[in-house]
Order: sequence, then C-alpha cells, then structure tokens
Amino acid sequence: MDVETLRVSLADAGQSHVLQFWDELSEPQRTHILEELQGWSPQELNGFFHRAMAAFSVSTTQEKVDARMEAVPRDVLGSVTRDREHLNDWEAEGFSQIAHGKVAVLLLAGGQGTRLGVTYPKGMYDVGLPSHKSLFQIQAERILKLQRLAKEKHGKDCIIPWYIMTSGRTMESTREYFKKHCYFGLNEENIVLFQQGMLPAMSFDGKILMEEKGKLSMAPDGNGGLYRALGAHGVLKDMEKRGIEYIHVYCVDNILVKVADPVFLGFCVAKEADCGAKVVEKMNPTEPVGVVCRVDGVYQVVEYSEITLATAQKRSADGRLMYNAGNIANHFFTRKFLQQVVEVHEPQLQHHVAVKKIPHVDSQGSLIHPDKPNGIKMEKFVFDIFQFAKKFVVFEVLREEEFSPLKNADSQNGKDNPSTARHALMSLHHCWVLNAGGHFVDENGTRIPAIPLMKDVGDLPIQCEISPLVSYAGEGLEPFVKDQEFHAPLIINESGVHQLVRNGTCH
Ligand code: UD1
Repeated sequence: MDVETLRVSLADAGQSHVLQFWDELSEPQRTHILEELQGWSPQELNGFFHRAMAAFSVSTTQEKVDARMEAVPRDVLGSVTRDREHLNDWEAEGFSQIAHGKVAVLLLAGGQGTRLGVTYPKGMYDVGLPSHKSLFQIQAERILKLQRLAKEKHGKDCIIPWYIMTSGRTMESTREYFKKHCYFGLNEENIVLFQQGMLPAMSFDGKILMEEKGKLSMAPDGNGGLYRALGAHGVLKDMEKRGIEYIHVYCVDNILVKVADPVFLGFCVAKEADCGAKVVEKMNPTEPVGVVCRVDGVYQVVEYSEITLATAQKRSADGRLMYNAGNIANHFFTRKFLQQVVEVHEPQLQHHVAVKKIPHVDSQGSLIHPDKPNGIKMEKFVFDIFQFAKKFVVFEVLREEEFSPLKNADSQNGKDNPSTARHALMSLHHCWVLNAGGHFVDENGTRIPAIPLMKDVGDLPIQCEISPLVSYAGEGLEPFVKDQEFHAPLIINESGVHQLVRNGTCH
C-alpha cells in the first residue's frame, strides 16, 4: 500500500498520528514503519480493540466466571497414575502414528522472554546443565530419539516434522541459531520456521502508541496468534502434503517437555479426540498456572488471574483442589480441527487484554515513561479454541516427570527459574538411573539413599544428566547402569557413561 492510501486509511480510523512525523523520518525509518503497518488494517485494529475492551470489562466482574466454572469430568480425563493398565496400549498407538509419519510437533516460540530478562529467544537459553544444552537442543534430541525408537518398533524410517512459530523479535536469531548448530542433527527441511503476527499497543482510548517517531510500540499477538499465522503462511498445507494428521503443540519453556509424547498422542487418538490438553495437578491455590475446566459447559483454560482466591482454594471431598487441572501448555490437535479453526473460527477469537505501562512518544515527539498503566497489549491465547472441539480430552501427568517451566531469572524469584529447571531435570534423571538398577555412592563409597533428599530449598540434587539421544523417558538405561555404583556428576550420552573420579575430573 502506498503512503497516501495508508494516510487516508489511518485518518478514517482516527489513527493519523501514526504518520505525524513522516517528514522527519529517514528512508530506512519510513520503510520500517510501512512494514509495521502490514498484516492488519487500522479499521480491523480498532475492531480488535473495541471487542477486547468490551470482553475485558465484563471479565473484571470476577464472580461471573467463578460461578459458571465446573471441573473437568472424569469421563474425559486420562491419567498416567489412574489408568496404568492402558498406558502400554496408548504408547503403542502413539508410536504407530509416529512411525507412519502422521505426527508433527509445533513449538510456540514467539514470546519475548520478558520475565527471564534475555534479549535472545528463550529456546536458546542454557540453564547450566553439565552438557550446557539449550532448550532447543534438548527438544531437537528428543525428536531425533523418538524417530529412532519408532523405527526400532516398526522397522521403517520416519520423520516428525518440527514447526516452530517465531515472531518478528525471534525469527532471525532462531534461524541463525539452528543453522549454526547444524539443526542439532535433524534435517533442515523438516524444521519449518514461520512467523506470527505483531500488534501495536494501544492507549486506553484506542490510539496506537508510538515507541519512537518512526516506530510503533509493537508486540507479538499472543500464542493464539498461531491460528492466523497457520493460515497466512500455508503451514497446514505443508502438513497435509506431508501426510500429517496429529499435531502436538507446546511451549518452549518447559525443560521436561515430552515432545510428541507417544502416550499422550495414543490416548487422544484412542479417544477419537480432535483436541486435548495435558495437565498436572495444581500444587496450591496460588500457583500461577491456568486451569482447564468448563465455563457454561464449554471447555477452556481459566488463567490464575481470572478467578477469585476463594474459588482457587475450593477443595473436593477428597481434599484435592476442586480446580486442579493445571495447564502445562501441551496440546493435541488433529490437522482437520486446526483447518476448521483457521477457516471458520479464527476471526471469532477475541484478544485478551494485558494492562501495561507503555513508554511512548507524545504528540510533541517527547518520550514519556508512564508511572502508572496507560494502555493495553492485545493477545490471543492458544487454548481459546478448545471451545470449538467436538471431542475434547484431558490427560493428567506427573509434574516431576513432565513440568518444570523456565519463566524467571534466578535473581528474581525462587520459582520457575534456571536453577529449578536444571534441578528438575537432574532429579528426574537420577530417578531413571535408580529405576534402571543403578546406585549413587558418596565420597566414602556409601550408597546414597534411593529417595533423593531435598529437604531445604538450598539442597542440591545429585548431578545426573542423560542425553535424550540415549533415553527419551527413562527407557533403555539398564545396559548403562544396572547393578553399578556411580559418583556424581554422572553424564550418560551417546559416547557412554562419564562420571566424576576422585581428582574432580569427569571421564
Ligand atoms: C502459559 C499458559 C498457561 C500455563 C503456563 C504453563 C498460555 C496463554 N498460557 O502461561 O495457561 O499454565 O503457560 O507454563 O498459553 N508465545 C508465543 N507468542 C506470543 C506469546 C507467547 O509464541 O505472542 C509462546 C512463548 O514463547 C511460550 C508460550 O507461548 O513458549 C507461553 O507463553 P507465556 O507468555 O510464557 O505464557 P504463560 O503466562 O507462562
């Protein structure tokens, strides 16, 4: 669109201030601002704003959602602890689908990692494991391992394509990172990067906020921006061409994520679900996770900030939290369901509002740093499509095995930070060694008790890291560890078992 047409369109929408400083801008600044104005029209943006604000003002009267909430009924719920007798069948079903090339994984990696405080994509973060693998590398190796396991079981090569949604902020660095690391052993053509949309922040009276004279205050449009991006970039067509039927969608920050988990996939396929969510039991009423539940009979995730404490604290007769299905942002979708979402439902999805303090330039071109909230960011959420599912299921897994998200920096908060993520992975791998018949001994050669002792926050787990290329979920470790005693740190990778010897070096 040329600048004159754009000027008219902005004026029509009451947003002409966006080009107010046009005459002062350099050519690169002009190009940049024109690029920012792609992807949505000013009128469409105003529509997003008004609908989002209307829904927001209804949602601030909290009693309404609370009163309409219902916990997930048992008949749609599968569980790794209560349904043990079915786990092998579900796993076999999942592996069969993987082996037949029907499964893809889709990573949501367009977030800005603001709480973690890094300037690069969160997937590149090294939480300080002995191997110093990043989240991206751990996930890539889990995919590789699953492909190998599926081949062992079904005797045929298979591919699990990896779709990665990035944003304007993370696209280039993610692309370069994968290239630099030779795609961690995966084939480049099976890693498909695509970019989600961005939206400008708006003032409370619906005006686009400008970060600089030649720059809008842009942010990614939420992880539910996925559905618009899937359509815009032909991702579903690519999946169809590859014969994909089932998609595991997950967030980048969970170090324990079971990418393309065959058990979860098999459970959803066996239940003939078009949409599914993995959950863990919520730890306490104030844990900052969304809960999967029904509101007015429709499945959705209610974020922790959207319900009152009284509702979050409610308990069932067995003493467990009534709303305990903690969303760990691991979702199952059929390709056909996603197709329908993209073609029919996406425009009906409303943006959620995040009220923020947003630095901006005023009409004089001066930069203002507000000391109280002055505007909103608008985001769609990935789980907003649960409401459209014909058959929705929920799968409950164990937190110790599957959920340890990286949200905060170590310095900020004692929870969900690099240390807790590292400790969660090492504790899990410690358990795998014990389950496979290995033992740890201390410097005097005395066996360390089988139950890891983590009494105090300051206690450190046994340093133990097993490469995903050796084991996806604890399987296949007996040949490495059975009836053997180890000194920590213990590292098991494709080149074998490495442990600390007395002089403090690893071998
Ligand atoms: C998310 C879930 C929450 C769940 C929690 C578990 C959503 C909306 N909320 O919360 O219910 O309990 O994880 O850890 O899913 N992302 C994008 N584009 C964006 C924004 C985010 O791709 O525009 C990606 C991030 O890169 C990340 C994921 O979405 O992988 C989650 O984003 P985040 O903002 O961290 O969500 P939470 O608030 O932690």
